[in-house]
Amino acid sequence: MIKHSIILLGYMGVGKSYIGRKLSEELKIDFFDLDNYIELNENQSINTIFYEKGEIYFRNIENKCLDLLLKKKVNHVISTGGGTPCYSNNIELIKKNVDLKSFYLESSITNLTNRLFSEKENRPLISSIDSKKELNSFISKHLFERNFYYNQADYIINIDKKKTSEILLEIKQKLT
Ligand code: S3P
Repeated sequence: MIKHSIILLGYMGVGKSYIGRKLSEELKIDFFDLDNYIELNENQSINTIFYEKGEIYFRNIENKCLDLLLKKKVNHVISTGGGTPCYSNNIELIKKNVDLKSFYLESSITNLTNRLFSEKENRPLISSIDSKKELNSFISKHLFERNFYYNQADYIINIDKKKTSEILLEIKQKLT
């Protein structure tokens, strides 16, 4: 039985949801995907929320949903959206929660570009970027701004060239 809940932070495309789900299965605890939770609460996809209501509305709901998830009493794994720790008081909510361990899943700009180029359609912040070169330069700048928040996680796990099983093991080793 683990003593803490777990929250995964990191840039779009790094695999927070996939790793989070796998981790929750191995630890036999509940899994919540924040983007999914928002979609269920709003009854709309993240894309539609962005296009119809705008990013400010989305960030507000994201903050409320994170707060709700962090109030759950039983231990669980939460995967966040790429921007979650960078808006509102989200990073403070995460850091002040003594029952929670945070992990930044880190990846190189090149890897993120390669992963995201083929799956940018459902991501409103990058869907209109046409070339890989432009995407690479967007991610470089964006990551530079966001790293300030990601680096406040309790642990940083680099995921490049690692199998899922290795990433899961690294996370679990930090929990003991
Ligand atoms: C966002 C990342 C997305 C989603 C929204 C905004 C961001 O989540 O929350 O499109 O600001 O980086 P993923 O990291 O799961 O793609």
